[in-house]
Amino acid sequence: MKTLLKNIGCLQTPVGSHSHVGAEQGENVKYSNAAIVIEDGIIREILEEGVLPEGSFDAVYDAEGSLVTPGLVDGHTHLIFGGYRQHEIAMKLKGADYLDILRAGGGILDTVRKTREASKEDLYTKSAAFLDEVIGMGVTALEAKSGYGLDLENEIKILEVIKALDERHPVDLVPTFMGPHAIPPEYEGRADEYIDLVIEEMLPVVKEKGLAEFCDIFCEDSVFNAEQSRKYLTRAKALGFGLKIHADEIEAIGGSELAGELGATSAEHLIAITESGQKALAAGGVMAMCLPATSFYLGKTFAPAREMIQKGIPVAIASDFNPGSCPSLNLQFCINLGCLKYKMTPEEVLTAVTINPACGIGRGDRIGTVEVGKQADLVIWNAPDFEMVCYRFGSNMVKRVIKNGILVERRRKK
Ligand code: NIG
Ligand code: FE
Repeated sequence: MKTLLKNIGCLQTPVGSHSHVGAEQGENVKYSNAAIVIEDGIIREILEEGVLPEGSFDAVYDAEGSLVTPGLVDGHTHLIFGGYRQHEIAMKLKGADYLDILRAGGGILDTVRKTREASKEDLYTKSAAFLDEVIGMGVTALEAKSGYGLDLENEIKILEVIKALDERHPVDLVPTFMGPHAIPPEYEGRADEYIDLVIEEMLPVVKEKGLAEFCDIFCEDSVFNAEQSRKYLTRAKALGFGLKIHADEIEAIGGSELAGELGATSAEHLIAITESGQKALAAGGVMAMCLPATSFYLGKTFAPAREMIQKGIPVAIASDFNPGSCPSLNLQFCINLGCLKYKMTPEEVLTAVTINPACGIGRGDRIGTVEVGKQADLVIWNAPDFEMVCYRFGSNMVKRVIKNGILVERRRKK
């Protein structure tokens, strides 16, 4: 199958298969009046300045002079969950904050109850609809965490849903096991024992079944402390998993320092990161996975992304889609916030939603840039340049999406 995408007004992309650090985070190449030749889902040729390839094609797509970028990569989601938590809005209006709700047995634990009750089929159908929505907004790959099961059976159920979605839905999914997302109600006051259960019972099964590539933990005040996190992540590392950590979301209790020490792939959230945490990430080559829509939704400050770029930490921007702290899967809104709140340039932001998260989920060699040899995952925007995407907010700026060389059908309205 040979395809041509022609009439690209501006093709903007970072270059390479590595995570981009410092000044390189802001380096994108821009081709004008370009065309892309795709063969069997892979980019074979990029032409510039109106040059068109010879030969015949099975399909020809016309970008109509618009901007084209790599497909967006959402490097942090909690995609699979039962129910919703819209009732928390009223609690928040009365002054309850995120950890108050969790400590009172709500929050994540509320979603755990609903997820345990949900069948695999229900979770699959609900999440597949989310994926239809995200691909329509330009996301062609995402990381999905478990963590609303909190026991072996339900954590495996969630990971199997992720696997089935990856096999059947055009969006690529990368699975992360997050058994220690909260202390389950039956282990209340016994976090150490729960960590032992995760290590002894869950990790080996997840490994044996090949259901996750990464392991993550919520290292937070009233959840898991740095020692518990170290114990779990050290075991996960020994089993060959890549490491991720929810660190410094609300309180800085040593999560970033631990990420640096263990050589984690990414530390995520980082709203409250300290100077020593930043040093640890830079020294350990750890990616900062920043989640600006969560800061927005929790009414918190924003992670010091600009400062982290200057300190040589690769920065990625992700949605954190989940039913509690960020019930939005709109990565375009995160792009707006990346510019306005993180003070990142449009080029730095594009890197932060393409090649950097691609590397953060172990896919830098296949996706994240528009280059010969990479997967043809492309977004055609209703915009002449990426600045327009950073500037407009609240609208879906995507015109069409090409996934593995094939034009994604627009979702039909009923
Ligand atoms: O990344 N902080 C922990 N986990 C999610 C929230 C999960 C939830 O509230 O359901 C987060 O913000
Ligand atoms: Fe999260």
